[in-house]
Amino acid sequence: MVAQHRVETLISREALDARVQELGRQITRDYQGRELVLVGVLKGSFMFCADLARAIDLPIAIEFLGLKSYGDAQTTSGVVQITSDLPRPVAGKDLLIVEDIVDTGLTMAYLRTNLATRNPASVKLCALLHKPSRARVATPIDYLGFSIEDRFVVGYGLDWAERYRNLPYVGVVEVTGGEPSGSST
Ligand code: IMP
Ligand code: MG
Repeated sequence: MVAQHRVETLISREALDARVQELGRQITRDYQGRELVLVGVLKGSFMFCADLARAIDLPIAIEFLGLKSYGDAQTTSGVVQITSDLPRPVAGKDLLIVEDIVDTGLTMAYLRTNLATRNPASVKLCALLHKPSRARVATPIDYLGFSIEDRFVVGYGLDWAERYRNLPYVGVVEVTGGEPSGSST
């Protein structure tokens, strides 16, 4: 049977933009005079990171790293692998991790611990989305876009088996009759 997919809007383009501008203003205030490095987590945060960076009025640096968490299409196993590391040392810098979504919290718990071993001045987390009902480990989120209920979301960088990353809004996929396979980060 051929799967039928329909994406229902959960967070509109306008709502995303307004919240990203607010986060940018807050980060601009909090990091005055510091050496801020945005650490974007690929691939899911690429769009959020690009918009957030433009909303921050400070001389920042932007780096990316790639993470892969194994699991089925919609959940993580908590086994995290760095597929592409930061290209240079970050000792003494103020790191702000930019992540698409905190679900179980396992991926961010791993990354915070890993980055802390590199002697940065600070490590904080800015996440666009959080599903509080799914938390398995405590993950302090210093800057949060939106708290959402436990539904699998796509768009604005987030994928389902690599699809839907290019949607300019966050939505929920409704499927009838089949599903794509693969893991995502
Ligand atoms: P964790 O469960 O907090 O470790 O999240 C692992 C990763 O799973 C996140 O960084 C996302 O890339 C992905 N993920 C979790 N929930 C969703 C979702 O609803 N849509 C798309 N990706 C998700
Ligand atoms: Mg991710």
